[in-house]
Formats: sequence, structure tokens, C-alpha cells
Amino acid sequence: MADIIDGRAIARQLDEKTKAEVDALVAAGNPAPGLAVVLVGDDGASQVYVRRKIKACEKVGIRSIEHRLPADTTQEHLLAVIDQLNKDPQIHGVLCQVPLPDHIDTRLVLRSISPDKDVDGFHPVNVGRLTTGTGGIVPCTPLGVMMLINSVLPDLKGKDVVVIGKSNIVGKPVANLLLDAEATVTVTHIYTENLPDICRKADVIVAAAGAPELVKGYWVKPGAVLIDVGITRKMGEDGKEKLVGDIAFDEVQHAKAITPVPGGVGPMTIACLLANTVQAARNLASEAPAEGDDYADAPDRSMYSAS
Ligand code: GUN
Repeated sequence: MADIIDGRAIARQLDEKTKAEVDALVAAGNPAPGLAVVLVGDDGASQVYVRRKIKACEKVGIRSIEHRLPADTTQEHLLAVIDQLNKDPQIHGVLCQVPLPDHIDTRLVLRSISPDKDVDGFHPVNVGRLTTGTGGIVPCTPLGVMMLINSVLPDLKGKDVVVIGKSNIVGKPVANLLLDAEATVTVTHIYTENLPDICRKADVIVAAAGAPELVKGYWVKPGAVLIDVGITRKMGEDGKEKLVGDIAFDEVQHAKAITPVPGGVGPMTIACLLANTVQAARNLASEAPAEGDDYADAPDRSMYSAS
């Protein structure tokens, strides 16, 4: 039987570390870290996500403020709100929930968030820092994926890792983090030829294609570590709705370890958002590094430990 990598437990551990860091910042005379979440429109899923993020802040002592704007908010007004948050010394993290309404240029809005407060890690400056292995804020889900792998396989040096999925939010950043950890990384996607053969060689598979139960048992080498980023609603044989990942969970019990869906990657994403907010607050509280200084830094891999 494959071991289950318990994302909820690891997220709780990370939250404890984050709370201790918040307490230390406040004890040193700093304001509590502040996260601003901007939500435009009334997309149901976005409302649920935003509520979860706000609630999670309370648990670790992060102050959160929510800006709910109507669906017909103009781009100019949204940019003005973000500009104000960028300048607010009580706010250390700014997040604009996507998707945004069609009349708003999402790329422009995400670029308007100060890179120092960009706790999603979506700003091109942070993407650049990530791809050059020079610090910056790491996107939440990829950071969570690295922590989950680290919990069962702390040394990735020379390991064969296959990433399935090439999104800007998961596939590409996770591939860069894995490269920094000195893994041999193959980035694939649903159009990759011979995907089963490529996967069968992998010591670790990160499945982030958004294709339910894509990875079959025969794709998986015995003893591999499996990280399932996918989450799709599916009707079960009993007529009840269930959530499935990108990996056919019941077929891969010969793996060393696997993240369940739900309860694997999902809980890590919010825990990493909180950790990123505290990192941003710490960075902003300390002497701001001179322009370009951080480009000399080696990546700090201790960040992959949740404890
Ligand atoms: N919408 C779905 N996931 C996310 C996320 O991680 N960040 C933001 N800003 N919007 C999202």
C-alpha cells in the first residue's frame, strides 16, 4: 500500500510555524502582517476561495481585509484600489482573485500589484526571480508541492521528476523549483507523445494537467512518489458526486507515497499563502535590499520544510 501524504497535517504544521513567525514579528514591535484580498464580481467558486483565505488568516494572527467590488467595476477603479493597497504600510500582501470579469485586463491588473506584496507570486518580477533561482515570492501551490515532496523525499538531487502540465500557475513554476533542487525534470502535458513511457521512468510525478484520472497504474514505477494537483468533480458509481485528481488513485498502490484528493495539495495552497504573507511582511519590515542584491542569493531550500 502506498503511504498517504497528509496535506492537511503538513498544512497545520506550516500554520503553526507561520503563527510563531507572526508572534515574533509583533513581539519585535511590528504591526501584525496584513493581507488584502480583492474580489471583483460574484463568481461562486471565487467567493468560496476568498472566504477560506480570510478565515485562514484569523487562525495565524494575520489581519485580513477584503475588498469586494461589483462585477461592473471599471479597470481604472480596480487599479486605483490596488495602488492604494500597494502604498498602505499596514498591508503586506495583496491578492486579486482571478478570474476577473471579461472587460478587465487580468495581466495588467496582476502586474499592478507591487512585487514585494505579490503573495500569489504571479508578478513577472517574481516569475523572473523564480526562474533564475534568486528568491522572491514563490507561488502558493508550487511551494506546497515542494513541501509535500520534501516530507517523503528530502533530497531530490539527480532524481527523475516528471511534471504533467505546463500552466504558469503550477507546471512551469514547479518545474523551476525542482530544477533548483537539482532534480532531472521532464515537463510534459496532455499532448506529449509516449506520456505513459515517460512517466514510467519517474521517481516523482507531479500531475497538474486538470485531466481527471489521467495517470494510470501502469504509468507508475513501483516506489515512485506521486503528487496530485488535479481536482475535478465526478459522479461516482453510487450516484454521489466525488472529487478525483489527475491520478487514478486506486490503481497506484505500488507507489511509495501519494497525495490524496481532497486533503493533499489543496490545504497546502492556503497555508503557503499565509506563509508568503508573513515572508512579505518580514521583507518589508527589514532593510529593503538594494536593487539587484537578491540576484546574488542562492535559493533557500529550508523553505520547503513545513516545521
Ligand atoms: N483563483 C484560483 N486560484 C487562485 C489563486 O491562487 N490566486 C488568485 N489570485 N486567484 C485564484
